[in-house]
Amino acid sequence: MKSVLVTGAAGFLGSHLCEYYLKLGYTVIGVDNFCTGLRSNIEVLQKSYPTFQFLEKDVTLDWTDLPAAKNLEFVFHFASPASPPHYQKLALETLWVNSIGLKNALQFADQNFARVVFASTREVYGDPELSPQPESSWGNVNSFGERSCYDEAKRFGEALIYSHNKLRNTKHGLVRIFNTYGPRMNPNDGRVVINFILQALQNSDLTIYGDGKQTRSFCYVSDLINGISAYAASNLTEPMNLGNDKEFTVLELAEIILKNIPSKSRLTFKDLPVDDPKKRRPDLAMAKLHLSGWAPTVNLQEGVSKMAEWVKDYVK
Ligand SMILES: NC(=O)c1ccc[n+]([C@@H]2O[C@H](COP(=O)([O-])OP(=O)(O)OC[C@H]3O[C@@H](n4cnc5c(N)ncnc54)[C@H](O)[C@@H]3O)[C@@H](O)[C@H]2O)c1
Repeated sequence: MKSVLVTGAAGFLGSHLCEYYLKLGYTVIGVDNFCTGLRSNIEVLQKSYPTFQFLEKDVTLDWTDLPAAKNLEFVFHFASPASPPHYQKLALETLWVNSIGLKNALQFADQNFARVVFASTREVYGDPELSPQPESSWGNVNSFGERSCYDEAKRFGEALIYSHNKLRNTKHGLVRIFNTYGPRMNPNDGRVVINFILQALQNSDLTIYGDGKQTRSFCYVSDLINGISAYAASNLTEPMNLGNDKEFTVLELAEIILKNIPSKSRLTFKDLPVDDPKKRRPDLAMAKLHLSGWAPTVNLQEGVSKMAEWVKDYVK
């Protein structure tokens, strides 16, 4: 039986990744310290899958207490605060988990002849001059500001993988994830889709930062996980964008949410946060070319309804 290890297993993406491989019959070892993840995400997996093992642990500490991993195929390094309110509060932890945590993941993978897939982000492009953003774009990033603990930590992680592969002759890889949403996201996460859904369910006004004309692309979680597993299986080492390339303004997103969730909410406008990118849309040409037919399929209306069902259940 093959196995995979997922750091950040209690998180939004980590828990879906665990479930994907558990369903395929893998043994999955999940590790998390619950700094932003949900205990309920682990409980769901423990209840349904006897081949799921979990260790509560900070992955920046040494990994000698990890369970032995037989036939380890992949190490998915997904542990990291991911939303601006979380990573700004946990700025130093964010820097460590994407550097020291990643170093530990690479070392463990090498000892077990496994391949690391690192969760990088579209934030490596910063506030881009080009839209959509291709992987060849070097980015326009502020190294000294409110978002730099996250953006630069991910850029460091990418550089670490590049040099590790070159000098140690390994085949680790990374995906640049664009805004993803879906069930199991921490309701305190603070990102726009979960915020709007919560506000609509509570009949409070939806908060728009700026004029709401900034655009975002939103990928439903199952589409992203299919892309990540295809990338893991590909043996590619180059960065690859994954997300959904349909672009919506934040105002359009608010309208879709209010159409899908019966609510008395209206819109309220606040100042735009510092360094907030105005456009975020992936160029998916590389992913579509190399990941044998992968493309996002879930539309925003459908995804928002599925997520709202989960949020309703979670908060009740
Ligand atoms: N969701 C997105 O849209 C998105 C976009 C770009 C990149 N990413 C990346 O994907 C990964 C997962 O994001 P997410 O949305 O699931 O976030 P999340 O906050 O839901 O999950 C992250 C998990 O990592 C855990 N964690 C953090 N530091 C840890 C440490 N030192 N030791 C052990 N566990 C630790 C947290 O407790 C949490 O369970 C992150 O690396 C994030 O940067 C996500």
